[in-house]
Amino acid sequence: MEGDSVALNFLLLTAIRDDEDILWKFGTEKTLIAKISREAKIFFTYDGPDGRFRDRLKLDNQTGSLTITNITTQHAGRYEVQRSGSKLTSELFSISVYARLPVPVIRRNCSSSSSSSSSQQNCSLVCSVVNVGHVTLSWYKGNSLLSSISVSDLSISLSLPLDVEYQDKNSYSCVINNPISNQTQHLDITQLCHTCSGTAALTYVFSY
Ligand SMILES: *[C@@H]1O[C@H](CO)[C@@H](O)[C@H](O)[C@H]1NC(C)=O
Ligand SMILES: *[C@@H]1O[C@H](CO)[C@@H](O)[C@H](O)[C@H]1NC(C)=O
Ligand SMILES: *[C@@H]1O[C@H](CO)[C@@H](O)[C@H](O)[C@H]1NC(C)=O
Ligand SMILES: *[C@@H]1O[C@H](CO)[C@@H](O)[C@H](O)[C@H]1NC(C)=O
Ligand SMILES: *[C@@H]1O[C@H](CO)[C@@H](O)[C@H](O)[C@H]1NC(C)=O
Repeated sequence: MEGDSVALNFLLLTAIRDDEDILWKFGTEKTLIAKISREAKIFFTYDGPDGRFRDRLKLDNQTGSLTITNITTQHAGRYEVQRSGSKLTSELFSISVYARLPVPVIRRNCSSSSSSSSSQQNCSLVCSVVNVGHVTLSWYKGNSLLSSISVSDLSISLSLPLDVEYQDKNSYSCVINNPISNQTQHLDITQLCHTCSGTAALTYVFSY
């Protein structure tokens, strides 16, 4: 998740030997981001050509493991570590970074036809989130899923409608989730479903 620290540790071998060189590379371009050469006393991390790794890399000079601190979506992708000593080995890592999810917002939709005076018994609601990617937004009645909408793009806004009757006593909630986390907003019908005050303001008349 954004803001976390992620440690990349070797899976195959543990301690690094004095005659080994260790190279950490990022992305399909295999940009060099860290290097250890014990014999030559080289012990370096690099910021990357666009500086995206500045102040975020920690290299362990005993194990050779690399830690990325305060990770962002810019650091998602492929990492490779090469060890060259008596033989060359390499290991690949893939990092996916998910944004921290906002709590969804539930509002009444006063422009919906089922909120109008012709339909006395229904209240139209909309649950929404802004600037999200790779998430699903859902309405639940108790524990059962009523409807949901998914988005794979980055940074778009999502909204999902729900019609409830004013006297409905069930518990409703709107949930946003990605593969690793979720956030829930519970619906309070009595608080949200009273008069649509916005319509009164629209009848305001100027006079000079
Ligand atoms: C590893 O780093 C520590 C702290 O920076 C330093 O004291 C130590 O000498 C280093 N060891 C090697 C083998 O470079
Ligand atoms: C983490 O990274 C973000 C985005 O680059 C930055 O705004 C924030 O200050 C960083 N937080 C820490 C604790 O370094
Ligand atoms: C509110 O309801 C109207 C009419 O059904 C619909 O066109 C509009 O998109 C709804 N607003 C939101 C934010 O969903
Ligand atoms: C009122 O809402 C219920 C579901 O909560 C729906 O079945 C019904 O069609 C709605 N009535 C109107 C007039 O929109
Ligand atoms: C939300 O996350 C919690 C804990 O991570 C999990 O127990 C729960 O089932 C999740 N809820 C949904 C609707 O995904």
